[in-house]
Amino acid sequence: MRGEFLSNSADQTREYARRFAVGLKPGDAVCLTGPLGAGKTEFMRGISEVFGCDEQLSSPTFSLLNIYDGSMGGQPVELHHFDLYRLESEKELESAGFEEYLSGPFVSVVEWGDKFPSFDRRYTRRVTLDIAGEGLRKITIR
Ligand SMILES: Nc1ncnc2c1ncn2[C@@H]1O[C@H](COP(=O)(O)OP(=O)(O)OP(=O)(O)O)[C@@H](O)[C@H]1O
Ligand SMILES: [Mg+2]
Repeated sequence: MRGEFLSNSADQTREYARRFAVGLKPGDAVCLTGPLGAGKTEFMRGISEVFGCDEQLSSPTFSLLNIYDGSMGGQPVELHHFDLYRLESEKELESAGFEEYLSGPFVSVVEWGDKFPSFDRRYTRRVTLDIAGEGLRKITIR
């Protein structure tokens, strides 16, 4: 799934995320970008619904990485949810093994994934959410 989509509710954003997520497979790394409150975590929640691990989501979350045990088509899939917002240095991320995580057999979703451009080439998919009005979001998937 790729293109531009307009969402007029958090529900609809999760619905787009579910449609997007059915095309994901282990090894995919999704760069999730957009300003504060754009709906990145809502989008992530929709993805987690497809992998059947939405109940494991903790909110609000302040950790760099949360790991959820999900599945798709009867196969177990680890869903890795990163949030780089509070992270200050790229070095920290490197020493935590970020690149190895991204290339591992997991589905990775990285909020603020564009914060450190040196990781750009590690992402297989890009999703940008823009605030287009009250309750309105433009979702660009490529
Ligand atoms: N169309 C929409 N899609 C997604 N969220 C929406 C929409 N309209 C309103 N909202 C609201 O915007 C907020 C989005 O919050 P969310 O935590 O997903 O943003 P975020 O991009 O993850 O922010 P942060 O950068 O702080 O992590 C929620 O409160 C949600 O209810
Ligand atoms: Mg968020």
